[in-house]
Amino acid sequence: MSKLLFIETLGCAMNSRDTEHMIAELTEKEGFVMTNDFKVADLILINTCSVRERPVHKLFSELGGFNKHKKPHAKIGVCGCTASHLGKEIIKRAPYVNFVLGARNVSKISEIIHKDKAVEIDINYDDSEFAFKDFRSSPFKGFINISMGCDKSCTYCIVPKTRGDEISIPDALIINEAKRLVSIGAKEIFLLGQNVNNYGRRFSGEHEDVNFTELLRRLSKIEELERIRFTSPHPFHMDDEFIEEFSSNPKICKSMHMPLQSGSTKVLKDMKRGYSKEWFLNRVNKLKTMCPEATISTDIIVGFPGESDEDFEDTLDVMKTVEFDQIFSFKYSPRPETEAQYFKNVVDEELASSRLTFLQSLHNEIMDKNNAKLLGNTYRVYFEDLHSDGHAAGRSDNNIVVKVKGSEELLGQFRDVKITAIGRTILTGEIVA
Ligand code: 5AD
Ligand code: SF4
Repeated sequence: MSKLLFIETLGCAMNSRDTEHMIAELTEKEGFVMTNDFKVADLILINTCSVRERPVHKLFSELGGFNKHKKPHAKIGVCGCTASHLGKEIIKRAPYVNFVLGARNVSKISEIIHKDKAVEIDINYDDSEFAFKDFRSSPFKGFINISMGCDKSCTYCIVPKTRGDEISIPDALIINEAKRLVSIGAKEIFLLGQNVNNYGRRFSGEHEDVNFTELLRRLSKIEELERIRFTSPHPFHMDDEFIEEFSSNPKICKSMHMPLQSGSTKVLKDMKRGYSKEWFLNRVNKLKTMCPEATISTDIIVGFPGESDEDFEDTLDVMKTVEFDQIFSFKYSPRPETEAQYFKNVVDEELASSRLTFLQSLHNEIMDKNNAKLLGNTYRVYFEDLHSDGHAAGRSDNNIVVKVKGSEELLGQFRDVKITAIGRTILTGEIVA
């Protein structure tokens, strides 16, 4: 009988890609078969996120549940960012955990499963990271890492500690991977990195000067490739050349993530973001002028230490000016090994919660107003999901999620879809061509 593998993935797109890598290694080298039920699994993995405190708490309660209900000899492994940052502390707090594997070490998964109480959390660069077996959770689009780690020092962020220094992956490897994915049917690629538009800052060896804009140009030459998406870019690195290429290159999807974090120049300085409110608005203005159809999403943190009512007003002001299409908003969460954990003028928990609620309801109003304008528009949709209610769903070039009545034959296909009904997260439409 095959050995069964259960993996739970928390956190960002980088983590999802790491999970794909681990599945590939374990299914191809170790003969595992996937299961959705941890109670029957022989190996239980949890790929963790440490960006905020709550998921870390959740990890230990979840591990307790796994331990209680697992099969008698099943192993439990903790992988990813919390593994990197807590290391052997995890085995101290949960002694039944068999191994701990950091975010930068996932290529070692098939070795570590054979060791008991092993902890691998080195964040130094390791060439073997590029040499994975391959597993893809979607045949229609391919996620490709273009860099690892992060060289920024945002004062709230634990990521540089969990994922290490930023290293760009040689462009030839990225282009070959994109060509290979296209040759097996993917029409869309999704480039991943903590700070994608800082691409090319450092390679592990000799490499010609290639920045992110040039990488996009090179990738877009792949003939059968139709769409390129990427996340996350940093507003600081959004120079004119980048915005111009984004706007004029028809293969680059017109949806930009611009993580604002705060609209107050003072708070941005305390966060060490490297830009001001004015710079951010200037970049948005340039983008909207050059590419009016682009949708813009953002990340916002409220309740950062020292955030006054006026600072929060600045954030609201940017929200109203930009009218973001999507926001991911969070209450500030102090993290170990970050500068901001020592900052004074901590914002009262209740005040932070009320700011978050206010921000989110303002965004809902903006969205309802803007979504209403989409009724009757037609978008070219790339179908990639089936819903159980007889609908197929996909995304427009500018990242609007649309569903239509339909089944498998639509998957992997482009269709022109006219919007017939509006919802907050998904629109309904009918195929017109
Ligand atoms: N507290 C709250 N939110 C955070 N983020 C990162 N670190 C923290 C923190 N300490 C948010 C940022 C980032 C997103 C991935 O998570 O908004 O862009
Ligand atoms: Fe992703 Fe950051 Fe969370 Fe790690 S800590 S999973 S890099 S969001």
